[in-house]
Amino acid sequence: MARLTRRQFARLSATGAAAALVPPAIAQTTAPLIARAIPKTGEKLPAVGLGTAAVFDDDDAGTRRKAAAVIKVLAANGGRLIDTASTYGDAESVIGAVLGAAGGRQNFFIATKLEAPDAAELQQSLRRLRTQKVDLLQLHNVGNPRQSLEQFYAWKAQGACRYVGITSTYHGDFGAVAAVLGREKPDFVQVDYSLDNREVEKRILPLAADVKAAVLTALPFGRGRLFRAVRGKAIPDWAQSFAGSWAQFFLKFLLADPRVTAVIPGTADPAHMLDNLGAMRGALPDPDQRRRMVQFVASL
Ligand SMILES: NC(=O)c1ccc[n+]([C@@H]2O[C@H](COP(=O)([O-])OP(=O)(O)OC[C@H]3O[C@@H](n4cnc5c(N)ncnc54)[C@H](OP(=O)(O)O)[C@@H]3O)[C@@H](O)[C@H]2O)c1
Repeated sequence: MARLTRRQFARLSATGAAAALVPPAIAQTTAPLIARAIPKTGEKLPAVGLGTAAVFDDDDAGTRRKAAAVIKVLAANGGRLIDTASTYGDAESVIGAVLGAAGGRQNFFIATKLEAPDAAELQQSLRRLRTQKVDLLQLHNVGNPRQSLEQFYAWKAQGACRYVGITSTYHGDFGAVAAVLGREKPDFVQVDYSLDNREVEKRILPLAADVKAAVLTALPFGRGRLFRAVRGKAIPDWAQSFAGSWAQFFLKFLLADPRVTAVIPGTADPAHMLDNLGAMRGALPDPDQRRRMVQFVASL
């Protein structure tokens, strides 16, 4: 694996051959894996997962092959978390088919999102994911401070999910997110956080810590914006001790905040998945290095 160039691997993954090539464990280093405790239970979650917005939209043979290759790399390198939503095209069906074919549902932590506390929507998600229970059920895009999680907690008690959560990436709605987070005390909150988008540091991350909510960071690369900002640039010398790639630079900035439970970069590329999983091993930047990272990105 290490001898394949990214281009070779991408070509193989496009044909589906990559899945067969990935050995059971291709850890990039022998450093221990970073796994964070879910505050309410202490259950450990590997700190790099997979986001699935826009990447697995069409349930066809090509998408299933791509998803199988990415998910195989995720699992072979200690990852478990897959984040999806009822509204991400056919992503739930694609994930359900891949995990069903591999017989590996129990090896993954599946997080999905509903638009509303709607039993029909929940049943559709469970059916598409080919599971009787998701690990995390999130209320998507909270925008009203009075939204209740009562139905989500009832489903948790009935065994349809193990954890409940809320999400938003709309900063205008963060007042509502804070109200729901403080009152309903979900197990998880998912918000957008990246090196050039640190709004959550003001209010949401401190509140999440207060109510013991695990934090998933959506949009860790700003939908690819950070890669475009550093195109053609080398990783600075002072960061090379902890970041082997730009992806690891961006993700390790987030993971260096102990309030962050896991990052969920989106990718349809197995080589990118492997790169991202590298952020789960080795040193994390210290507070001085983190400040320097912010200055560096702000100066671009
Ligand atoms: N309200 C919500 O709850 C909400 C909203 C938005 C997003 N989310 C969640 O957050 C996840 C992440 O967001 P996102 O996928 O939109 O954006 P993102 O993770 O910030 O960026 C994804 C982009 O980065 C590229 N990329 C990934 N790994 C790379 C690597 N190692 N090297 C170079 N490029 C790389 C991807 O392209 P390739 O495919 O080529 O790798 C893609 O273009 C979503 O998938 C979703 O699960 C939740």
